[in-house]
Amino acid sequence: MSYEPVVAIAGVTGAVGAEFIATMDRRAFPVRKLKALASARSAGKTIDFRGERIVIEELTEKSFEGVDIALFSAGSGTSRKFSPAAVKAGAVVIDNSSAFRMDPNVPLVIPEINAGRIREHKGIIAVPNCSAITALVPLWPIHKANRIKRVILSTYQAASGGGAAVMQELVESTRAHLEGRAFQPKAIPHPYAFNLFSHNTAVDPETGYNDEETKVIKETRKIFEDERIAIGVTCVRVPVLRAHSEAITFECERPITEHDVRAILANAPGVKIVDDRAKNYFPMPIDASGQDDVLVGRIRRDLSDASGHSISMFVSADQLLKGAALNAIQIAELAQRERPWFRGRLRPKLTSCRHRTLPYDNAIHPIHSRWQQ
Ligand code: A2P
Repeated sequence: MSYEPVVAIAGVTGAVGAEFIATMDRRAFPVRKLKALASARSAGKTIDFRGERIVIEELTEKSFEGVDIALFSAGSGTSRKFSPAAVKAGAVVIDNSSAFRMDPNVPLVIPEINAGRIREHKGIIAVPNCSAITALVPLWPIHKANRIKRVILSTYQAASGGGAAVMQELVESTRAHLEGRAFQPKAIPHPYAFNLFSHNTAVDPETGYNDEETKVIKETRKIFEDERIAIGVTCVRVPVLRAHSEAITFECERPITEHDVRAILANAPGVKIVDDRAKNYFPMPIDASGQDDVLVGRIRRDLSDASGHSISMFVSADQLLKGAALNAIQIAELAQRERPWFRGRLRPKLTSCRHRTLPYDNAIHPIHSRWQQ
């Protein structure tokens, strides 16, 4: 009999919460029982899951009795407050927030890059920032072939990154604008309709970088296990509903051509090339929405680097899917397949599972190869 975990979703009423459910369904993720958790505001409401009506419960420290996998997407404060109780109850927490990403004891996982790190978890596995995931899925196979020493990227981030309330604000403020009505911003600090603005996270007064930019820099170094990679990043929120786009320029250690990049990305997991110069057709958020892959196009030589070491490209990816829910469910699939060791109280010493391989292991950096010995 195949093993079916009990799954809890903390933040089930949110934008990512809804995608956790849709993604589990689409990928036929086995679930013995689903616990739907949100704030007291939502307690008693219901959601439908696989033909069953499930009553939403208030998230408390007692919510995790008998839970195998706890998917969190209810903000970093909520993750910090309730994850320890989930781990104590024996669940593996897959956390979509920034709460634990830089904790050295917490694997920060993009399955196409470092699936093997899942095996090191001590109860919590973190999903990286959505802008980092969008850039790193296509950059990783290039980095493996020809080390990337410097990246400059600018984001065009969708409303979904701020959650359901920000998506709603984009729709409502656009409607008000078109109808000539005044609209007072509520979820974000600036007018959103027909506007864009520097990312609405706090700005460090000394460096001038906002939190989103700092996350991209730090998380890239942790996931690539390369502290030397130089990164310049500008994060901007644009009036798009749910897919992020990014203009990326990178410089490699050795010369690289656009043909090299196309050849590398042609077979890269999680990447789809959309690069039609004749039709001027390139990645767009409207095409990326609802897709699992990161769309990559406008692959061309960076003319500002005469040495031939640099390439520019443009990418789009669904922030709610690969940037959040899909990445989390991919982690859950790997953890579930690796049973029985994945669950906190059942986990044996790491040495006993070194011979095992995970489905994405061929994408793993040589530094992870000790897991394959
Ligand atoms: P609720 O709908 O009850 O407020 P989004 O990322 O789309 O903004 O969604 C945030 C999710 O996190 C929602 O499901 C929200 O539930 C949930 N949430 C926010 N604060 C808490 C909290 N203190 N405890 C539990 N869930 C919370």
